[in-house]
Amino acid sequence: MAVVSGGGSGLGREIAVELGRRGYDLVLLGRRQPPLEETLALAGAREAGVALPCDVRDAEAVERCAGEVRARWGAADVVVPAAGVGAIAPFEQTPPDDFAALLDTNLTGVFLLLRALLPAMKERGHGWIFPLLSVAARRAFPGWAAYCASKWGLRGLIEVLREELKGTGVRITALYPGATDTPIWDALPGDWNRAAMVPPREVVRALSYALDADPSTLVEEIQLGPAGGAL
Ligand SMILES: NC(=O)c1ccc[n+]([C@@H]2O[C@H](COP(=O)([O-])OP(=O)(O)OC[C@H]3O[C@@H](n4cnc5c(N)ncnc54)[C@H](OP(=O)(O)O)[C@@H]3O)[C@@H](O)[C@H]2O)c1
Repeated sequence: MAVVSGGGSGLGREIAVELGRRGYDLVLLGRRQPPLEETLALAGAREAGVALPCDVRDAEAVERCAGEVRARWGAADVVVPAAGVGAIAPFEQTPPDDFAALLDTNLTGVFLLLRALLPAMKERGHGWIFPLLSVAARRAFPGWAAYCASKWGLRGLIEVLREELKGTGVRITALYPGATDTPIWDALPGDWNRAAMVPPREVVRALSYALDADPSTLVEEIQLGPAGGAL
């Protein structure tokens, strides 16, 4: 069974559909239920899946979802924390509340979800986490202070977790996409060349490459971006 946060659109949706195609039951998390239901339908997983409205910033709501996972499946086999938001503003024009809200979703939200799901995965002795990082976890882009801070922070969190999970059977393959053509760009100010962005299916292909590798081999991270360079 695979848990995908942000499963109602963009990368979360594309990855969920692929995981459904591979036979995983799906547990999809997001704030709005209808897009999650649409993804389940696209994945042909209405029977073997569940759409759980959940704000990943809400620790109690996340714990309730993890409880449903434990009750029905015992533990997650795959977790894709893809819920995330973007924002662009010069550093000094970034309102503190906006800064905090973005970190709450992109960083703390991933922490809460993994913290809730990991004990059962470790007890079962296997599992696979595919965090959605970003080229913005490694490179600085003017105007992206909050987003870069969230993704650089997430990279630190994930790398510590990787060390702590050694020997538990729970794996991490970190995905570092560059600009990918998803709805996250719809609300971002700027004149973006969407045609030059990575198609979401290529991020799915990267995840599939890791899933299909011989079990003796762990693909620890994959970075991919627009062929013409960062946008
Ligand atoms: N697109 C890119 O260029 C790109 C590149 C690198 C990394 N990423 C990362 O990839 C991930 C997916 O992004 P995307 O491009 O697929 O964007 P997207 O299409 O906007 O999807 C983001 C999803 O996150 C959900 N979400 C947002 N806030 C949430 C919250 N507080 N609780 C639960 N769900 C929440 C949204 O659903 P609701 O609104 O219904 O909650 C939405 O389904 C993000 O972490 C993003 O940072 C994207």
